[in-house]
Amino acid sequence: MDGNGRWARERGWIRLKGHEQGSLAVERVANACMDAGVEYLTLYAFSTENWKRPAHEVAGLMLLLERFLSEKVAMMNENGVRLATIGRTHDLPRPARKRLERAIAETSHNTRLILTLALNYGGREEIVDAVRSIAAEVRVGSIEPEAIEAATISSHLYTRGLPDPDLLIRTSGEMRISNFLLWQLSYTEIHVTRKLWPDFGPEDLHAALADYASRERRFGEARENPAPTIIPS
Ligand code: FPP
Repeated sequence: MDGNGRWARERGWIRLKGHEQGSLAVERVANACMDAGVEYLTLYAFSTENWKRPAHEVAGLMLLLERFLSEKVAMMNENGVRLATIGRTHDLPRPARKRLERAIAETSHNTRLILTLALNYGGREEIVDAVRSIAAEVRVGSIEPEAIEAATISSHLYTRGLPDPDLLIRTSGEMRISNFLLWQLSYTEIHVTRKLWPDFGPEDLHAALADYASRERRFGEARENPAPTIIPS
């Protein structure tokens, strides 16, 4: 959800104001996704690197998360939104963790949209955690090293049970992956928009979906060539 800082700076405000505005965009975009029939929305809300930001900004982000969770669970239940998380959420401050656990439990029966928040998330860290858990299973003999396949890795990631993303939307013109879903993005289509996240709205989502619909996804296979024309002699 990039561009919150720039959005605030353009107005002469502190960065946290941008995050506050960015958290309003979350509900707007989740609603637009449901209207468009999107079933999975994953938002990069806090990375493992974001702890390096000033303490007041980190604390403000945690408070915004808590506020979002306490205010939006009713709306999620009305709309059929199930909340999920990926990341090392056990290292989040206790109040945020407790609210998350409650929101996840209270929305667990919903099926219309799976809204996954990446919190204390890093793609490399996720792969490290998957490798550690596979190694532990190898040690006790429940997996043979030769039996480890791509599907084994996928099923040990935080995203087990979620499909790989079809589309990655990168706001604020950034052209990097920034340690997000490194394994899962292998064949994902990428849409970059210059829009800053707090300004991102339904029309931007529709533009991204139209861009996605125009792509030809081949997953490494050859393009279908037209059958050769046989010219009778
Ligand atoms: C990146 O913008 C954004 C973040 C580090 C935090 C995103 C968090 C929220 C929108 C609010 C909390 C989350 C929820 C789900 C309510 P940046 O500061 O790097 O902006 P810049 O790229 O313009 O510097």
